[in-house]
Amino acid sequence: MNALAARLRAEISAHGPLRFDAYMARALFDPAEGYYGSGRARIGRGGDFYTNVSVGRMFGRVIAAQCAEIWERLDRPADFTFAEQGANDGRLAADVLDALATDHPACATATRAVLIEPFAPLQAAQRNTLAAHASRVDWVPDLAALPAFTGVHFTNEYADALPVRLFRRTADGWLERHVTADDTGLRLDDQPAPDAPDILPADAPADTLVEIRPGADAWVRDVAARLTRGLMLIVDYGFPRADLYAPWRSNGTLSCYRGHRRDDDPLVDPGEKDLTAHVDFTALAGAGASAGLTVAGFADQYHFLVGAATPLLLAMEQAPASPTREADLRAFKTLLHPETMGTQFKYLALTRGLDAAPLAGYRHARPAAGALGLT
Ligand SMILES: C[S@@+](CC[C@H](N)C(=O)[O-])C[C@H]1O[C@@H](n2cnc3c(N)ncnc32)[C@H](O)[C@@H]1O
Repeated sequence: MNALAARLRAEISAHGPLRFDAYMARALFDPAEGYYGSGRARIGRGGDFYTNVSVGRMFGRVIAAQCAEIWERLDRPADFTFAEQGANDGRLAADVLDALATDHPACATATRAVLIEPFAPLQAAQRNTLAAHASRVDWVPDLAALPAFTGVHFTNEYADALPVRLFRRTADGWLERHVTADDTGLRLDDQPAPDAPDILPADAPADTLVEIRPGADAWVRDVAARLTRGLMLIVDYGFPRADLYAPWRSNGTLSCYRGHRRDDDPLVDPGEKDLTAHVDFTALAGAGASAGLTVAGFADQYHFLVGAATPLLLAMEQAPASPTREADLRAFKTLLHPETMGTQFKYLALTRGLDAAPLAGYRHARPAAGALGLT
């Protein structure tokens, strides 16, 4: 048992079982020993998993193009914000600011970045990565401290780390999973769930496991409350609700990642590996609509990137061949791969104050409301 598991076991023995979302919050965000909170998360080749950001700077170039499109569509505001949450070491924000400076210089002049980061070790890593852009970057610890802004709020693989409640179907109804303790360590324990949310699938077969993310609505609402005009772009793996809760996905989607290996035991070595569950995009879109945002697009990464990157790819085609151009094209192909990143990741666009013309990234997408089951 590691130090965090021992501490949780002592707390549970003294105060009773932890609901699974409370356990997941500690495993990921405990400031001393949580996977993210302590700064021990490692992303990329030598770490625990890859993200779009770790594939190379090309992802940041496309997100910069997306920012420039919003800036143009809002009639080039003098103060434009790129706000990122869950920025890990700040690599993506640096890639976006670099790409704005080279590919969209007028937009770059109007843009400041704000990183929303509560954890001191991650903020220190971000300050280091963004040293060359120091005069254009601010930090706030949480959304409550973020001033109202015009611009883009961006997340890549943030929502999947928001803690989930776990429910298991039995012949007598839904039970909710808790973490309890015995002499040897931590154990899962399913307890009656009198407050099971209505959105759990009524016809789920016995033993179906389902995740619900209780913090998702408030998160979207808090961003919406600060977004005066512009875009909230959520990139993550997940599905519309009908797919997430489809009968064939009966084991849920909760997964752990360490050293590029997946396992499904969240109680082993808490704080030493990532814990994640797929995102219910219908819930996020519904929360955005309730907060007054427009559900402006939903697409997989392949379709979004092909639409959003077309002008960038045409410009790259005209540029002389160089090792960086070849590396960017290779990274782009990796991001598009139809059996991995191209289909796993989805892009949800929630906007305020834009006209109804589709954003470039959704040129090849089905209408969002239908795809998300919101109509
Ligand atoms: C999977 S990593 C993704 C990092 C980066 N965006 C990337 O794509 O490489 C998840 C990030 O979200 C942050 N995060 C997720 N949920 C959070 C929460 N509730 N509070 C603070 N940070 C959170 C983590 O600290 C981490 O930086």
